[in-house]
Amino acid sequence: MNENSVVIITGANSGMGKATTIEVAKTGANVVMLCRNQSRGKEAFNEVKKITKNNKVKFMLCDLGSRQSIHDFVTEFKKRYDRLDVLINNAGVILPGRHETVDGYELQFGVNHLGHFLLTNLLLDLLISSQPSRVVNVSSGAHKSGKIYFDDVNLTKNYRIFRAYAQSKLANIMFTYELASRLKDTNVTVNCLHPGAVATSIGINRDTGFGKFITGILKPFFNTPEKGAETAIYLAMSDEIEGVSGKYFIRKKQVQSSENSYDQEAAKKLWKLSEEMTGLSVNK
Ligand SMILES: NC(=O)c1ccc[n+]([C@@H]2O[C@H](COP(=O)([O-])OP(=O)(O)OC[C@H]3O[C@@H](n4cnc5c(N)ncnc54)[C@H](OP(=O)(O)O)[C@@H]3O)[C@@H](O)[C@H]2O)c1
Repeated sequence: MNENSVVIITGANSGMGKATTIEVAKTGANVVMLCRNQSRGKEAFNEVKKITKNNKVKFMLCDLGSRQSIHDFVTEFKKRYDRLDVLINNAGVILPGRHETVDGYELQFGVNHLGHFLLTNLLLDLLISSQPSRVVNVSSGAHKSGKIYFDDVNLTKNYRIFRAYAQSKLANIMFTYELASRLKDTNVTVNCLHPGAVATSIGINRDTGFGKFITGILKPFFNTPEKGAETAIYLAMSDEIEGVSGKYFIRKKQVQSSENSYDQEAAKKLWKLSEEMTGLSVNK
């Protein structure tokens, strides 16, 4: 990473996304904070600029639950930048009750997986032309109880909050392995991680504040966002993992993910389904 590097961080206004943004911005790199909400994004952007004194930090709006918004973001990004060195897919959502994205998909699968799937694919040309470059996907240990419900991926029947979250986080890992395999002849690396249990705003409904109480109780037992962000920062910037791709990390160490996350046939099936759901297959 150097002062010419260009880095996108999704969900950069809160929790680990903000902590990661601050560390990356301290290097002097061009950092684009992808945020979905104008006022939350602007507030975090001002804070990051104040702390890091990096005037090359920018803030751009994008809702990862909307195909149109992702396309608009990528179009605007490509007008402003001609390279992309690191893409950190950090944004994530977990919310009680079944919700849907703007495009009508189950919220957690839609944002956590499909949003990042589309974003990454639309930025692949830039990642390849800027190589060596990196994609970092923030998953979760929750993937271990996950399964991809191919017959009802939107969980219209038997919705459970944790089932939806675990499915989306397993999808993050399968996407990582499949993308790494597709890019094996390039110098674009793709890795994923579990950040640990971290006291952030995850699980808190941004509109109603519901969930604050539970998060508040758990806070003393959880890591800080700064600590939680360490592995993502490591995967984004460290020379130690140059050339390493298609791996899962916890506490900056390569570890095994769940057995079903290595199912290559399922990963290909998920890729095809994701292409269809995001409209990517239309242009093929
Ligand atoms: N905290 C943990 O214990 C833990 C454990 C394992 C994995 N993780 C993973 O770590 C990552 C970071 O989460 P966090 O714990 O730092 O949570 P957080 O504080 O809630 O941050 C999540 C970020 O994602 C953004 N986001 C949510 N929906 C979005 C959308 N539709 N479009 C664009 N951005 C969206 C949020 O924006 P708003 O603020 O505007 O809503 C926020 O910036 C997530 O992928 C999460 O699954 C967390």
